[in-house]
Amino acid sequence: MTIKKHSATHLLVRRAYGKVARTSSSCCPGSSCCGGPASKKGAEGEMGLSCGDPVAFSKLKKGMTVVDLGSGAGKDVFLAAEKVGAKGLSIGVDMTPEMLKLAAKNTEKFTRRTGLKNVEFRKGVIEKLPVKNSEADLIISNCVINLSPDKPAVFREAFRALKPGGAIVVSDIVLNRALPPALKKHVGLYAGCVAGALVREAYLCAIKAAGFAGLKLLSDRLYSASGTCSDPITEKAGKALDGAASSITVWAKKYNTSGGKK
Ligand SMILES: C[S@@+](CC[C@H](N)C(=O)[O-])C[C@H]1O[C@@H](n2cnc3c(N)ncnc32)[C@H](O)[C@@H]1O
Repeated sequence: MTIKKHSATHLLVRRAYGKVARTSSSCCPGSSCCGGPASKKGAEGEMGLSCGDPVAFSKLKKGMTVVDLGSGAGKDVFLAAEKVGAKGLSIGVDMTPEMLKLAAKNTEKFTRRTGLKNVEFRKGVIEKLPVKNSEADLIISNCVINLSPDKPAVFREAFRALKPGGAIVVSDIVLNRALPPALKKHVGLYAGCVAGALVREAYLCAIKAAGFAGLKLLSDRLYSASGTCSDPITEKAGKALDGAASSITVWAKKYNTSGGKK
């Protein structure tokens, strides 16, 4: 599928998250991903619309370059920036202008607090990353890839953007069983990170098909869409969704193929 054909889904998601960004004082102004315990505000007060904590699982070292796919208001970008330090770089990629605006505001607060100027936010879609080949040591993402109309393309792009020996740490929603067709087409549930999610096996297969190996499941817990937002539609769908989705964090590596497994 071409990026052009993805534009309807991108538009739907951009509208939903543009609204979230404009009403950013609360975590759940509409149907959006905000998955419980992991969805807390960061040090800059920026909202987290997350379903995991990829930075906590990342072995980030000083000087590394990290890229966050679908960075939102920037929570994980700032957490990673403190870990990679002044000689490192923490890049966030997002397609929603309102989110990028929030992230820019939060960057000022971050720099005032830490003195660090090692964050960069780039506008773009994660199916065609605005990142050079082999630019990143680590790629993270938090509750975003389920929103993509082409998940395999996202993993292929992550693979391209990583240095050989680099890794991904991705927190996301996966389905434990296929959803009823009516729920699959539900716009609110799509923006709410459930209707667009892949069945777990398909998700892990897409990671492997992109070239990654050594997959490890770092966390795995049931995701309760009804319990996360007070959205009437999500709440109504809650019963049909019971046990249907999980929030997982996966690690996988881009092995250095020239010199075998390193
Ligand atoms: C649920 S929020 C998560 C934000 C952030 N990762 C966090 O944990 O707070 C989803 C974000 O991904 C962005 N997004 C969704 N699909 C995208 C795509 N295909 N390309 C770029 N950004 C995307 C949205 O604009 C939104 O900011």
